[in-house]
Parts: sequence; C-alpha cells; structure tokens
Amino acid sequence: MSKILVTSALPYINGVPHLGHMVGCLLPSDIYARFMRMMGNEVLYICGTDEHGTTSEVGALKAGMEVQAYCDMNHDRHAKTYKDFELSFDFFGRTSTEQNKEMTYHIFEQLDKNGFIEEKTIKQVYSIDDEMFLADRYITGTCPYCGYDKARGDQCENCTKVLEPTELIDARSSISGSKNLEVRETKHLFLNLPKLEGELSAWLKTKEPFWPDVAYTIAQKWLKEGLKERCITRDLKWGFKVNKEGYEDKVFYVWFDAPIGYIGITKQWADERPSERNWKDWWQNPKEVRHVEFMGKDNVPYHSITFPATLLGTRENWTQVDFLKGFSYLTYEGGKFSKSENRGIFAEDAIKEFPVDYWRYWLMSNAPEGSDASFTWDLFAGAVNKDLNGVLGNFVSRVLKMTASKVGNKVPEGGEYSKLEEDLIAALQQRVNDYIKYLSEMEFRKALAELRAIWVEGNNYISVAEPWTVIKSDEKRAKVILRACINLIRIFAILSAPVMQEVAQSMLERLGAGMSSLKDFDVKKEMNALKGGESFEVGDVLFERVSPEKLEELKAKYGSAK
Ligand code: 2FM
Ligand code: ZN
Repeated sequence: MSKILVTSALPYINGVPHLGHMVGCLLPSDIYARFMRMMGNEVLYICGTDEHGTTSEVGALKAGMEVQAYCDMNHDRHAKTYKDFELSFDFFGRTSTEQNKEMTYHIFEQLDKNGFIEEKTIKQVYSIDDEMFLADRYITGTCPYCGYDKARGDQCENCTKVLEPTELIDARSSISGSKNLEVRETKHLFLNLPKLEGELSAWLKTKEPFWPDVAYTIAQKWLKEGLKERCITRDLKWGFKVNKEGYEDKVFYVWFDAPIGYIGITKQWADERPSERNWKDWWQNPKEVRHVEFMGKDNVPYHSITFPATLLGTRENWTQVDFLKGFSYLTYEGGKFSKSENRGIFAEDAIKEFPVDYWRYWLMSNAPEGSDASFTWDLFAGAVNKDLNGVLGNFVSRVLKMTASKVGNKVPEGGEYSKLEEDLIAALQQRVNDYIKYLSEMEFRKALAELRAIWVEGNNYISVAEPWTVIKSDEKRAKVILRACINLIRIFAILSAPVMQEVAQSMLERLGAGMSSLKDFDVKKEMNALKGGESFEVGDVLFERVSPEKLEELKAKYGSAK
C-alpha cells in the first residue's frame, strides 16, 4: 500500500465554478483519488478555497459585506457545489485559517533565515479614483509579449507569461476602468528565485520522464527564460500580515500563501482529528508519499517553479510534487464561459438540470488533456443518449427486465460458461487492464473510452448470445447467458465507480451486491461472483434520454453557438 497525496488547485473563493473548473482539476483529481483508493492505497485528498487577495476584497465590497463574512458565505457555497458533484475530498478547507497562517509564517521565516528573501523599494500602480494600490490581477492591459489586449497584471492568460503590472501597455483599473493610475514607491519583500535556479532545475530534471508534456514544457520554458525575483508581499488589508519588522502594514501575496494552503489545510484536517496521523506524515515524508497535483495550465508555473523553489529554500524535508497533471481549457459552445455575459453553464445550475453522473461522464470523456476542448449541448446530449442511455442504461434494464419476466427475480442458477463466455472474459480482461493502466497514468479520455468499450462488449455479447431466442429451445443455456449478463452489470458498476459513484451504487443495490477492489481485477473471478439464487430488483431507468425539445430549451437558456 502506498501513500498517495492528491491535491486539486484551490478555487478562488469569489468565483462561481463553471464546467471548465470542474473538468480542469476538481473532477479528475476526484476520479484519481477514488481510483487509487479502489486500488488499495492510502489516499489523502485535499482541496479548499483560496481566500486572500484583492479579488476577495472587491467581491466583498460589491456584495456589501465584511470580507470575512463574505468568505464564510462563499466557502459554504463552494463546499455545497463540490458535495453535489460527489467530490470525495478527505478535507475541504480554507487558506485563511490560523493553521495556514502558522505554516506561511514558518516557511517565510526559514526562507528569510536562509537568505532567500530580499527587500526592495518598487514602483506599484496606485489607482487615484479607487483610492488604493491595485493588485496585479486588477490591472488590465495589453501583454507586451503577445499583444493580447485583456492581459491581467499578474499573468497573461493567452501566452501564460507571468507579468509585472507595470509591463502592461495601456493599463487600466479592472475595478473602475479608470486610467487615472499612478506609479508610487513602496517597499516590498522578494523571493530570490535566481539563487534557487540551479537546484530547481536539477530537481525538475528528475521529473522529466514522468511529467505530462503540458506541465513539463511550461516549466522548462520558464527556466529557459531565466527566473526573476518574485514579489511576495502586497499593500492590502485582507491577508496574512507580514511577520517582519517594517512590513506590518503589508500582507503576503495570495500566490505565496495559497500553495502553502495545501499544507495548512492538511494541518487543519489533522488538528480536527487528533487521533489520526500527523500532517507531517504527508508533507514531510517525501520517501513514502507520492504527491499528485491537478490544475489548469495557468497554474503550472506556480506549482512547478515558484512553490517547489519556496519549499527548497526552507532547507527542510518537504514532500514535493511528484506528478503534475495540467489541463488546457474547456470552451463553451466555441467561446468563453462568462458569468457577466451569461454565457455557459455553471456548476450550480448544471446539477439542477441533470444528475451528477451525466456531467461527470461527459466532462471526463472530453477532458481538455492535450488541447482545449469544447462543451456543446449537442455533444452532451449525444453522449447521454448514445453512451449512457443507449449502451449502459439499456443493457442494465434489458437484462434485468428480461430475466425477471422469463425466469423470475433471482440470478439464474445452473450450467457452466461456454466458449462464448470464455472469449468474452478474455476480451474484457484485456480492456480492464488497459482501463486501469490509463487511470493510473491519468489519461482520462483514453480511460473513459475504454470504459465505454467495456460496456459495448456486454451489448455485443447479448446480441450474439440471444437469450430471448435460446430460451425457447434451451432454458438451461439461456439461464447461463442471463447469469453472465447480471455478473457483467456488477462488473460494469465496479469499473464505473471512480467516474460515476451514484450510478454504480444504484446498479449494485439492484443486485444486492457489494463493491470490490480494482487491484488485480480478475474478470474470470468477478464473472462468477454472483453464482445464482441471489435476489435482484429491476429498478428504474438509469439514464433519461435528452429529448430534442429539452435540447432546444437548454440552448436557449444558457446560450449556444451563433
Ligand atoms: O487559479 C486558481 O484558481 C488559484 N486559486 C489556484 C491556487 S492553487 C494553490 F494551491 F496555489
Ligand atoms: Zn501574452
């Protein structure tokens, strides 16, 4: 049994998660965590809300609330959405806790003690109309590297280049739109990344054979360009006050304490469960723990460069990221999701329109792993109708209904599997091995295609075996076929469980059967799990079709391609 630490990028507290967020880190991390548990590993799956920074201050201002109360409210809203999406976090915490403050202070002190913190007076953008220094992401302008005209002051989301806000061309305040900005002098603390560059580059090399291209290429590109010192403090009120003399009126930059938040959240989890293992068993245990991180590609530089360098600079024995799974973006009907323009479907609404597993299946089958992927209502309805209703749902109801009507509500007994079943078992074993391999490698699209192919094997088998015809002449043989089909339902449920927990449970409950481990999954053994005589219930349809009328209604409600 290995210890697997799974983390998903911490969603900003003020944003409303849309399908892109769900597929870009939350769902894949959940599927991986569930899968790893089913493989018999000890898993700790951590996430939480990223609460500091001006985004929260501005969000609270707009909502007419105190920042703390605003964060409390939004934290609960996020937590509810993720519960509705069946995300199986061991703990969903927050970055604004005492535990994270303690951790942030500790890490900062070590960096300072080891000579990796520099003091500098810098020029920062002050908005005269907003009466405040503007956080980097609240300045919009044209990217000096690629020309994208809506680049933010912290990063250009078009070319992923991390920016200083003063580099932006034609800068304006994103809060008021005001161009009445001036640059003022202010003293700040910097992490000396150039000093850590050699070590970091050596560390990254050890990851090369394992990391997916999207993550490794971004990290390499950064190193090639040469690292710059990175400002880790801000002139804001909301955040952790800097624990250094002369800086008491400043707070740590949100990107400094957010990744530390993984550790702070784990400490919060451990503090609330004092009988369980210590947080250090996970975070200061690199030899025993494998740390797998999930995130959108814009987060990759922080988790492959800045945060690993931060941990290296403490000279302590931290668990670093072992595998970084980065995702590209999901577009909505070929465009961007936008709350303000009312384009796209957000997670809270999605769950009101369809049961969670419809979403989980579609999103992960179409995960933007290599390049961007597009959500369209036509694609979604097509997959629900063809794959879920047509292939899996249809197989389950057909088999159970037929068995109940022809031989009663018990798994049929007697007879032995023939060559047809032996061939099916061999074909399935191959596919199951591939499915498990793809999930282990976090190749989600391939894994989901394999899962579907496994369901198709069941449909092909029943079409060839024709129990409805055989029963007229050879009841004993028909019973063997139906028993094989019912065992297939149980197998499909177990294999589908990391992706579709609710549906898997519903399938197993009909059979009164239990879950089984995925480790060394032996199809032959599993095909004989239900031996005959066990009672079952037919149950309701597993998946409803999306009608053409409903499809039109959804397009009108949420917007569709022009
Ligand atoms: O991009 C984001 O949504 C950030 N809030 C992610 C932070 S991840 C954390 F670990 F640093
Ligand atoms: Zn750019």
